[in-house]
Amino acid sequence: MAFNGKTILITGATGNVGSAAVKEFLKQGASVIATSRSKASLDKLTAKLQEKSVPTEKLIPITVDISNDQEVSKVANQIREKTLPEIDHVISSSGPWWKFDHLYDVTFEQWNEVMSANVNPHFIMYRNFIPLLLNRPGSSYTLVTGASGLIDEIGPQKIPSGITGITQTVLYGISRVGRYETRNSAVRFNELLISYRIEDDDTYNKLVSEGKISETDKFFTSSSKFGTIFPKIAKSNVKSEVIKIGSATDLEEFEKNQA
Ligand SMILES: NC(=O)c1ccc[n+]([C@@H]2O[C@H](COP(=O)([O-])OP(=O)(O)OC[C@H]3O[C@@H](n4cnc5c(N)ncnc54)[C@H](OP(=O)(O)O)[C@@H]3O)[C@@H](O)[C@H]2O)c1
Repeated sequence: MAFNGKTILITGATGNVGSAAVKEFLKQGASVIATSRSKASLDKLTAKLQEKSVPTEKLIPITVDISNDQEVSKVANQIREKTLPEIDHVISSSGPWWKFDHLYDVTFEQWNEVMSANVNPHFIMYRNFIPLLLNRPGSSYTLVTGASGLIDEIGPQKIPSGITGITQTVLYGISRVGRYETRNSAVRFNELLISYRIEDDDTYNKLVSEGKISETDKFFTSSSKFGTIFPKIAKSNVKSEVIKIGSATDLEEFEKNQA
């Protein structure tokens, strides 16, 4: 129970990546503050964890819109006032994939919606929670990004990275500044740059059983298989780095080096 007595704040906790982090930290004894805009989604997450016999007594689900600075700053204040536990680690892992065929077809309203969902939450989280960790020994902050900002097309279906890719390039900027300005602080701020596909466990198992992917596929994995990386980063000495994971082999390599 390596994380007994530690508290982890995880955004995008209902997503493929965030839910994997929630599960692993709970399994390792941490208290987990999990955010979502929807109570129903958090209830579903809790039920799924219980189905898999993951202990949920230390799960603290909170309904908050992380694209709203006022709502998020209230959460930070609850931590300062000790109505929520002090946090040791943050995983900032939000932002869905946006399907627009062409950037020139995106309306200004849609542009704002995408930025509000994929970019603003990461800045809002950073500005509200990094100050709580700057002087906290052993703390870490992981900003999760994807590779769509680096390439034109994603995967064998050659999906254009489009506006989702644009949001990722902004996150690389937040990462660069964050890594630089926290380099002499106690907190270990890192970017986790994922460049392979992570599906929720049910979808992954269905694709495997239908023969659409193989369990030995290095470029496609499940939330459960991926989630183990988060406690490894939290316990590591890695600081001010971009941790690039583009396959199951990269994941194994990283985890082996942190063992
Ligand atoms: N899955 C992959 O294969 C993959 C690969 C590379 C990188 N990544 C990165 O991992 C991160 C999370 O991806 P994911 O696959 O876990 O995403 P996902 O399954 O689509 O989940 C997206 C999450 O974003 C949250 N969110 C918060 N504010 C939102 C808003 N205003 N609009 C829409 N969603 C909002 C959602 O929370 P609520 O709806 O509960 O509020 C949800 O938990 C992203 O940064 C992505 O670039 C993922």
